[in-house]
Amino acid sequence: MSKSPRKLLVTGGAGYVGSVVGAHLLAAGHRVTVLDDLSTGFRAGVPDGADFVEGRIQDAAKVLDGSYDAVLHFAASSQVGESVADPAKYWRNNVGGTLELLDAMRASGVRTLVFSSTAATYGEPASVPITEDAVTAPTNPYGATKLAVDHMISGECAAHGLAAVSLRYFNVAGAYGKYGERHHPESHLIPLVLQVAQGRRDAIAVYGDDYPTPDGTCLRDYIHVADLAEAHLLALDHAAAGEHLICNLGNGSGFSVREVIDTVRRVTGHPIPESAQPRRAGDPAVLVASAQRARDRLGWQPTRTDLAEIVRDAWNFAQSLGEDAR
Ligand SMILES: NC(=O)c1ccc[n+]([C@@H]2O[C@H](COP(=O)([O-])OP(=O)(O)OC[C@H]3O[C@@H](n4cnc5c(N)ncnc54)[C@H](O)[C@@H]3O)[C@@H](O)[C@H]2O)c1
Repeated sequence: MSKSPRKLLVTGGAGYVGSVVGAHLLAAGHRVTVLDDLSTGFRAGVPDGADFVEGRIQDAAKVLDGSYDAVLHFAASSQVGESVADPAKYWRNNVGGTLELLDAMRASGVRTLVFSSTAATYGEPASVPITEDAVTAPTNPYGATKLAVDHMISGECAAHGLAAVSLRYFNVAGAYGKYGERHHPESHLIPLVLQVAQGRRDAIAVYGDDYPTPDGTCLRDYIHVADLAEAHLLALDHAAAGEHLICNLGNGSGFSVREVIDTVRRVTGHPIPESAQPRRAGDPAVLVASAQRARDRLGWQPTRTDLAEIVRDAWNFAQSLGEDAR
């Protein structure tokens, strides 16, 4: 898919999204070095065929030796709840770490960056679907640090001609063969429901069933991680010197919490008991992306939009982990 093979640094390439994107980059013929401190990632997540440096983005200058063409930057602390309890960790790792990375890129002549931004930069939307022109008002330190990094990148592009694309993911889900989601603690709905099917959790909590949605539960936009990976390859090809392009990545159609639970029931054959809970503060009824800009500017076309396919891939991955998952 990609135009010419390049030498790439993938930060956070032992984590969920970075491992899947790394595998796609290698399949497209690129050379990949993963830089990851394994703080939340796993050695087994480093894609086959990639070089691996166990280290921090704060030390990227030791790796970027002038031979790299571009950086894909996934490394971050990304648990919303933890960011509320320990905001300094998030400012230090996400903002401080990225500042060091940008310095190292500039010093070693890397001119292209693809960055993992997030829907959390928008906060509670005034209207849906959410476009890139929506107000950015993050409601937690995690989203605030990601927005700060987006501002830092804009400055690099304007001042030094960096070519950068920030991809604002909505809810990433599914798996790609042996690369999948392994967060501890897990906070994402699909892997949590799958933990019930595996007997690792008694029931799935449903926070509020009286929202103004068709079945009363919240609607979220789930995007298959392999579709997301393809957007990164396109972003590499479309990044333009001096421009900071920001694109949302989502399906554009939401699935409700209840639809997710029902789909897991069908895919796994498990009854999945529910536990009704009150609404959580700050949980909007609907969070759905407009990914029109990614379609127009990158030529991106998600193809794995069927919720059952997303759940099936995640289920196969969760089962493949066996005892390792615990
Ligand atoms: N998973 C989602 O639904 C989602 C949604 C929106 C945005 N994102 C963003 O995508 C990126 C990847 O998310 P993920 O779900 O794969 O998370 P993850 O925790 O699985 O992966 C992050 C990786 O970065 C590494 N890391 C963290 N800090 C580091 C540092 N200072 N130096 C080197 N390595 C470091 C971790 O060890 C881990 O392997 C993150 O930036 C996250 O904010 C994810």
